[in-house]
This record gives sequence, structure tokens and C-alpha cells, in this order.
Amino acid sequence: MLSHLVKEHPYYIICCYVGLLLLFLLVCWALWCKNKSSIGIPPGNRGLPFVGETLQFMAAINSSKGVYEFVHARRLRYGKCFKAKLFGETHVFISSRESAKVIVNKENEGGKFSKSYIKSIAELLGRDSLLCAAQQHHKLIRARLFSLFSTDSLSSFVQLFDSLVLQATRTWTCGSVVVIQDETLKLACKAMCKMLISIESGQELVTMHNEVARLCEAMLALPVRLPWTRFYKGLQARKRIMNILEKNISERRSGIATHHVDFLQQLLDNKLNEDGVPGLTDREIKDNILTMIIAGQDTIANAMTWMIKFVDENRQVFNTLMKEQLKIEKNGSRNSYLTLEALNEMPYASKVVKEALRKASVVQWLPRVALEDCVIEGFKIKKGWNINIDARSIHHDPTVHKDPDVFNPSRFPAESKPYSFLAFGMGGRTCLGKNMAKAMMLVFLHRFITNYNAYIQVEGD
Ligand code: HEM
Repeated sequence: MLSHLVKEHPYYIICCYVGLLLLFLLVCWALWCKNKSSIGIPPGNRGLPFVGETLQFMAAINSSKGVYEFVHARRLRYGKCFKAKLFGETHVFISSRESAKVIVNKENEGGKFSKSYIKSIAELLGRDSLLCAAQQHHKLIRARLFSLFSTDSLSSFVQLFDSLVLQATRTWTCGSVVVIQDETLKLACKAMCKMLISIESGQELVTMHNEVARLCEAMLALPVRLPWTRFYKGLQARKRIMNILEKNISERRSGIATHHVDFLQQLLDNKLNEDGVPGLTDREIKDNILTMIIAGQDTIANAMTWMIKFVDENRQVFNTLMKEQLKIEKNGSRNSYLTLEALNEMPYASKVVKEALRKASVVQWLPRVALEDCVIEGFKIKKGWNINIDARSIHHDPTVHKDPDVFNPSRFPAESKPYSFLAFGMGGRTCLGKNMAKAMMLVFLHRFITNYNAYIQVEGD
């Protein structure tokens, strides 16, 4: 009977085999899920065998709502602590101030947690990047870079950035279309390239702008090295940026390039510090110049774009800001560059900056890894799991910030509870450029507001 069936329908036997295989896989999966769902482990969907929820994560990255939608949907479904399997690793997302404090404190004590990025990001930034380096190595590099962000350096950077903003906004005239996101990105790239490596114009700047954009795009792509993939193109972009940096370093060493005042030169000159600890190696210097460009470009461009959108949508905020900024202009900024002292005279604008950073949460979570088994939010966390502090969820928690969706700069300082504002991270990994970023946002806001009437066509004109 069976041999007759097989003769008559040759595909019958193949269908049977495929059916049995599917049944086998289904049973394995059910058993696997059952074994893994032991009590005490954070809730979450393990997704498909091997890939977990990577496909859903990638779909969110490429959707119009953005990658945070993946986290937000699960936060609503599972609560303040949940896990997901991504890129073959377990990721736990937590969104409470108390747990954020525990994690940051334990990390500072050199104990149970360390910073962690997915491997593909480490490959793109370089293994000596401050963002990827492990504990002791991180401490050494951070100490060397820290001196670059002194008050003197910030002071001269404010003037440089103001000159770049004035140059860029000069072309914004009434009736022309200005895409703030594109403008702020160009501005941020120019500022970073000038401050770090004295590249300020010409083909080299255009190349840096394009290659950095390619590298940023690759940071959340699947790590597949085929010539048409975003990840591969990102690796190629890294190579080209490294070539520019190498050329720059060798020209300076050979004396072809005239002496520059920038971060690269300071790192090259800093071969032995007063404490006797050697300066950074060439590879550390190159990886960290690239890291600072990446860390400081898209973040600041996005933050400035959101800030302008929020201010433009809130008339009351706009009017209060206008009053404060016109006073600063009257006191001298119309005919000269802004100074650090002038920025310190902007209490309301500073609150606007902080509120924009809270509401937009441009860095949405802070990635860490558990170095040993522990318990968080009452759940067992295993050594090697990635723990992501969900800063955006904390910024939008109504028990932490009243009416979190309302743009209200006056909520500060009353709502400045510990671990409620994580825009720049916390502890030993806090953003090195945080004062620089705040200063850039204030300068941009000042020039935007005080020239607002020149850009905007009043109805009826
Ligand atoms: C609005 C703009 C910016 C935001 C929102 C931002 C945010 C952050 C965040 C959240 C971190 C990670 C903290 C953690 O994991 O705990 C970070 C790290 C870092 N940022 Fe920024 N950043 C901004 C601008 C800048 C700028 C302008 C620079 C300087 C060029 C910069 C340089 C760095 C560096 C070097 C690190 C690594 C610090 C470390 O691991 O020790 N950032 N930033």
C-alpha cells in the first residue's frame, strides 16, 4: 500500500520526512522553553531557537518608529525587568532608579558589572576604544582623555563652536528651507573634526562626514561580512578613517604638517604623564579619536534637533527663553563670540537643554554586562548576561517625572532625584563630553532664538 502510494505520489515520502522533522523541532523547542523558564529568571519571550528575537529587533531598527519600540513594547508587556535573546546573547532590560543605582555603584567598586557593547560595535570602534575597553584598561585610557576636557579647553571650544554656528546660520534666510537635522549633523561633524584633528574644510572633511555616517549606520546592523552589507561597508569606512588618522600622525611626526592645537596633538605630545604612567599608544590614540567623533556627533546633532522641535512647539517656553536670550545678546553677544561666562548666565536655557535631553533620551539605554551571578529586581541574573539600564523608560516614568510627556523645563530642579536623569550616564563611565555637549546646545539655542525672526516668515508676509 505504502510502496504504491510512493510510486503514485513521489513527494509523499518527502512530505512525511519534513512533517516528522518539524514535529521533532517543535517538541525540542517546547522542552527547551520549559527547561529555561525556571522561576526567578526575568520574564520574556525566548523567541526562535538560536536567533531568539534578533529578527524582531532588526525589524524595529529599520521601522519608522525606531529600535526603542522593541524595548517599549516588552516593557509594557513584562514590567520593569525583562529579558530578550539578541545576536545569540541574553539581554536584560531594567528600568528602575534603584537598580540603576545598584548597577552603577557595583561597577564603580570594580565588582559585579562592566560596560559592554555587542561585538560588532567593538569591531567598528576598535578594541582600544574607551567605549569598549574593560575595567583597568578603561581606567587608564579615561585618565589620559580626561585632561583634554579641561575648563580652558571648553572655553576655547565655546568660541570655536559659536563661530561655526554663526557661519552656518548666515545662509539661513527667510523663505529658504532649512532641515535642522541635516544642518546640526554637518555642524557637529565640523566641530568634532576641527577640535580633534584640525580638519575644517575641503575634501578631507567631506570624506570624514560620509565615512562616519557609514560607520554609524553599521553599528546596529547584523554583523555579516559580505560586500553589500551595512556592516561590511562600516568596516571599510573604519579603514578609510584610520588611514586619514595615520596620514595625519605621520605628517605631524615628520614635520610636514605645521604644529596644530587640537586633541590629537595633545595625545601625541603626552608620552609620559607627571604620574609616570606612559601616554597612549598610536592604536589607542586612533581608536579613541574615532570614538570621540562617533560619541560626539550623532548624539549632539539629535539632541539639538529635538530641542529645537520641543521649543518651537511650546510658545510659553519659547517666550521665556526669548526674554532671557535677548538680555544676553544686549550684554554683548551680538558683536562678539559667546563665552563660557555668558553661558553661565542662562539658567532658563540650561533647564531647556536638560528637559530636551530627558524627553528625547538620545542614548536610550546604558549597556553593561554581569561579571558574576546576582539578583536584580528580585530576578536571578547570570554571569555573562547583558544588562541594559533603560534610561528612556526612567525619563518617562510618571512616578519619577510628573506628566513625563509634557515639555516642561521648569520641572527642574524640583524633579532632580538621584538616578532620575541618565542622559549622560552615571559613575565611572559618565560621558566625558557632557559639559561640552551642554555648552554646544546652549550656543545653538542662543543663536537660533535670537535670530528666530529673521528665519521665520510671519503669516501674512
Ligand atoms: C547630547 C550629546 C551627548 C549625549 C546625550 C551623550 C551621552 C553619552 C552616554 C549616555 C554615554 C555612556 C555613559 C554610560 O554608559 O554610562 C556617553 C559616553 C561617552 N561620551 Fe557622550 N554624549 C554626548 C556628547 C558627547 C560629546 C560631545 C563627546 C566628546 C567628544 C562625548 C564623548 C563621550 C565619551 C568619550 C564617552 C565614553 C566614556 C567612558 O566610557 O568612559 N559625548 N555619552
